[in-house]
Amino acid sequence: MAVHLHGLPADIEGINAVAERHGIKVIEDFSQAFGAAIEGRAVGGLGTVGVASLMAGKNLPSAGEGGILVTNDREIRNQAVTLKCFGEKINPNGSYVLSHSTMGWNYRINLLSAVMASQQLFHLDQYNESRRDGAKVLEAILNELDLFHPPKIPEGMTPVYHMYRFRIDPEKAGLSISLDQAREALKQVFMAEGLPLVEFQNQPLAGHDLMQQRVGYGRGCPWSCQNRENMTYSIEDYPGALSAIQDSLVLGYPAQAAIANPEVVDAYAHCFRKVAANSRAFERFARDLPAQAPPWNKPARLF
Ligand SMILES: Cc1ncc(COP(=O)(O)O)c(C=O)c1O
Repeated sequence: MAVHLHGLPADIEGINAVAERHGIKVIEDFSQAFGAAIEGRAVGGLGTVGVASLMAGKNLPSAGEGGILVTNDREIRNQAVTLKCFGEKINPNGSYVLSHSTMGWNYRINLLSAVMASQQLFHLDQYNESRRDGAKVLEAILNELDLFHPPKIPEGMTPVYHMYRFRIDPEKAGLSISLDQAREALKQVFMAEGLPLVEFQNQPLAGHDLMQQRVGYGRGCPWSCQNRENMTYSIEDYPGALSAIQDSLVLGYPAQAAIANPEVVDAYAHCFRKVAANSRAFERFARDLPAQAPPWNKPARLF
């Protein structure tokens, strides 16, 4: 499963090539990336199946909870409909047979949510454009300031900035503070201006109790099958995730779509400049904070 995280397309061509070599089907999770594209081709339609959440916080929200699955493979589509609707049998041509063929769930979206999401489609392009405009303003400013790095967008990718995550680099800015001190100080300084910055997640998935304690599934499969018995779920096995958690912050959360609002983007831009212009005062403030542990030494949480 390839996740187009934060609205930036994953390297789906590379993933498809590996999957093809091993006869594996690729599922794209484009919950955070409606309208994002690679060389002009929209994500969600580049693997075998695309799945996406329509929950209220997404770029394409419904009025509550919901989700979609898209595929060109009719057999997979029919199987998904069966599972969505109490295991009801589906004819090869896609029509219902009103009998139950297998186990299934009630995953049907409610009509009001579906209507809301489909109406949002008419605004999606414009909405994504506003996010890209906001990102362009921030990118120009962050590129000027040594303490920050804007997100890197690989050639050919069109992102939609579901979240705007930027890196911090106190060493490059010549500040004698650790990443943990710099991150915490930035959170406090921006919050004093009413502008939230969050880590968003403080643990790789493996650090959550679910994986650490292997709760659920009667402690059976998936914990006990496919040679997973000896898996340690050690967070040190995910150095890329740990470094992203430690040296970056997300702007705007938990308010939605801060980046689509030019006034809010200006307020963040002003604050980035203010920190950079007062970097020695910022350094002193960060150094005087109580000792900061890496985020993953605290219980797992979302922002
Ligand atoms: C990338 C991604 N996948 C899956 C989900 C889960 O979506 P839902 O809560 O609608 O099941 C979310 C959102 O919360 C998400 O951001």
